[in-house]
Amino acid sequence: MTVFYPPKPKPRAKKPGPVGRLFASLDSSLAPLYARSYAMKMGEVHTPRRRLYFIVQPDLALRVLAESATRYPKSNLMGAMLEHLVGDGIFVSRGQTWARQRRMMDPAFEATRIRAIFPLMREAAEAMAERFGAGAVGEATRVDIEMTHVTADVIFRTIYSRAFTRAEAETIFDNFEKFQKLAWRHGVWTMVGVPPSWSISRRRAKRYAKVIRDLLHAPVRERLERIARGEATPERDLLQSFIEAVDPETGERFDECELVDQIGVMFLAGHETSASSLAWALYMVAMSPEVQARLHAEADAAFAEGPLVFETMRRLPFTRDVFREALRLYPPVSFLSRDATEPETMRGKHIKPGEILFVSPWLSGRSEHHWDNPDAFDPDRFARAETRASEQKAYFPFSRGPRVCMGASFAMQEAVIILATIMREWRVAAAAGHTPDPVARLTLRSRNGIRLDFVRR
Ligand code: HEM
Repeated sequence: MTVFYPPKPKPRAKKPGPVGRLFASLDSSLAPLYARSYAMKMGEVHTPRRRLYFIVQPDLALRVLAESATRYPKSNLMGAMLEHLVGDGIFVSRGQTWARQRRMMDPAFEATRIRAIFPLMREAAEAMAERFGAGAVGEATRVDIEMTHVTADVIFRTIYSRAFTRAEAETIFDNFEKFQKLAWRHGVWTMVGVPPSWSISRRRAKRYAKVIRDLLHAPVRERLERIARGEATPERDLLQSFIEAVDPETGERFDECELVDQIGVMFLAGHETSASSLAWALYMVAMSPEVQARLHAEADAAFAEGPLVFETMRRLPFTRDVFREALRLYPPVSFLSRDATEPETMRGKHIKPGEILFVSPWLSGRSEHHWDNPDAFDPDRFARAETRASEQKAYFPFSRGPRVCMGASFAMQEAVIILATIMREWRVAAAAGHTPDPVARLTLRSRNGIRLDFVRR
């Protein structure tokens, strides 16, 4: 079988001046560090005001994320980047605020029991199939954009019990693209210790975040008004669960602003991530004809008796492994940031309180100490017994410990449904002359998009 080695980040050309150099090394997804990271166990980057540490050695990574998690709280870096969009929502909150939110949201998230939302995911995937059938795909399709559309549709249906309109999709894509660039820039300044009030990017990002937040807020307001008028709200969706969520310790509920924060988190965390990894998965499938033939065969068998049902998911193990392999090679949240709170020494490096530790599912997922042929796209590795140890130690695309992703099962199910629905009808091939260029922003995206040719089978 021909093995495909998917692209890695390229070191960027150095720009003049200290600011240019800083952006060349940080804004380019830490590519220079990444390039020598396969054998690295721990690395560091010195910025003018603080040091950043990159932890790849698995026992240290798991200590930071899970075993001693209270000693390494989530850094406010993500919070600084996302504040205008998700306020103090659960993805970025810390301490008691986070603990209260998680207490309330874990049971509320039960509403998204994966069996119960299976039909919603299938409807969104079939809506995608209709768009594709009506000409949304063809030569050099921007598959990253199409995946953003379908995953946003899945999460929109889960939150609000209705589909995502084309107009809403366009408003969000357009504004999020601009927001993401500025938020990342602001994040780089925060990383190196520049005060937020100095950041022009932060002020500019707010404008685009507001458009998205207003769009997400309108249906929340509408639902709350219906409740205030005493009207029935039969929807059993995520919004309703969050409205009804009660803190078991204090009896409090979320107020309107907190509700919008949490809906913002669910919308963002619930689709950007899945969209990124689905686009990378499809690119690697396009470059691996034998993998694609097996996906086609698996989809044909799964759809042979009609539409997908929850039980059919068991008949798509290879599709699932393709997605797991995409998460290893291109984990969407590629750097997880934590704050050091006490002085300590790790692998001979003296870390001071306030410095930032990055644990990276991306670097660990490609570590040559833990994976056989780490840069190869090899979905079958997950079916081999010897991979179990690597998985336990060095595979954490959904994080580990108390801040572990709330939507991991949701994402796995959604991805398998979407991949199988595409494979039922389409063959994908890399667009001529196009090689994606990976870059870590809020999620791991391709700087030049991901373009594929879609051909009917
Ligand atoms: C392939 C898809 C996904 C990946 C790779 C992913 C990955 C992650 C990671 C790595 C974190 C933790 C970040 C950290 O520790 O700093 C996280 C947190 C979170 N994710 Fe996901 N996620 C995915 C999909 C989803 C979906 C579909 C949802 C919701 C429907 C979701 C909701 C959340 C929430 C609410 C948190 C915050 C949990 C907390 O801090 O307590 N994610 N995700």
